[in-house]
Amino acid sequence: MVNAIAAIAAKMNGMERQAMAAVITLLVEGSTAAAGAIIVSCALIRKAKAMSYTIRLLPGGHEFQAEAHETLLDAALRCGVNVHYNCNSGTCGGCGVRVVSGRVEEERFHDYVMKEPEKRQGHVLLCSVTAASDMVIESIATASADEIPRQSIDAKVMKVESIGDDYRVLHLRTPRTHTLRFLAGQQVALQVADLPPRRLFIASCPCNGMVLQFHLRRDAADAFAVHVFNHMAIHDPVRIDGPVGDFILDDDSVRPLVMVAQETGFAPIKSLIEHAIALELPQPQRLFWVAPAPDGHYLENYCRALKDSLDDFDFTLLLARHDGEWPRLAAAMAAAASTPAACDVYVCAAPTLAEAVRQAFIQRGACAGRIKLASGAMTGVC
Ligand code: FES
Repeated sequence: MVNAIAAIAAKMNGMERQAMAAVITLLVEGSTAAAGAIIVSCALIRKAKAMSYTIRLLPGGHEFQAEAHETLLDAALRCGVNVHYNCNSGTCGGCGVRVVSGRVEEERFHDYVMKEPEKRQGHVLLCSVTAASDMVIESIATASADEIPRQSIDAKVMKVESIGDDYRVLHLRTPRTHTLRFLAGQQVALQVADLPPRRLFIASCPCNGMVLQFHLRRDAADAFAVHVFNHMAIHDPVRIDGPVGDFILDDDSVRPLVMVAQETGFAPIKSLIEHAIALELPQPQRLFWVAPAPDGHYLENYCRALKDSLDDFDFTLLLARHDGEWPRLAAAMAAAASTPAACDVYVCAAPTLAEAVRQAFIQRGACAGRIKLASGAMTGVC
């Protein structure tokens, strides 16, 4: 019973915990009616908290919806808005913003001591407050990879997911107080035991910096992959350093998106797709996924689920393994893309295939500046 009450209390904010303490005291004293009144009040507060509010950032004008029960930082990240932050636990002050209009409620205690001038100007910590109305706040959304600081985080293995004999999806969990801040399409270096660091693309969405996903193919020449396939276990420590890389989404563009992945080059493409979904980008998305054998499309079901649930997402699985096949394959992709001249093209493939795709789309009228290549994903030595 005591444990159950403690679990409920842990999910409450300060005001709710005080209300619960008052209810328990009144019940112990025999004042059932007063306790009932407080319970009804709490229910009304909960109902009010089911609302969501529109938050507008100045000067960029980005907007996102915040539920009344989530911190402004969690809401921004969930919606794909990369605001500045560091610890996500109220200690660094990195998520400070100025409230121009609207009201907030303190959701979490914070150790960071706000200076008096900041308080007078209406500064709050995004990771510590919830919205209590529609709001306008001053905070610059991160637009470029250079603005993301390098971080070192001691994470733990959550799960090593086997997909067939030759592919693994590695799930890492960071401490709650030290989540990874990154942009979709970036990489980090992972280090286990005494192996050299292995750079890998992050396959998950930046909207959750605490649970990170990585894709690996069986490769006897890759010491990190050998370790993951043969030795890695739940709770093993993994050091994360990064992020790096500028294979990131131009989220101001409204051009149709074409994504080309080769085998585990699907990892950053998946992150870009999930980021585009979080941002609710309206343009069509078309994925081409090349692999040497059918099991190389190791998340085919995930692609099918996206196609079923999104209005304008489609994908094509392609089989090919030799360099000589790339020009034909790339030409077929450019021909199948409905408006190649008007697209933004993102390619994560071996350099020879990436270059063939670039040439094929340019021949179909695509602007070279709208084609982004991330090479080296296939060997992991990028
Ligand atoms: S992110 Fe560190 S105080 Fe909010």
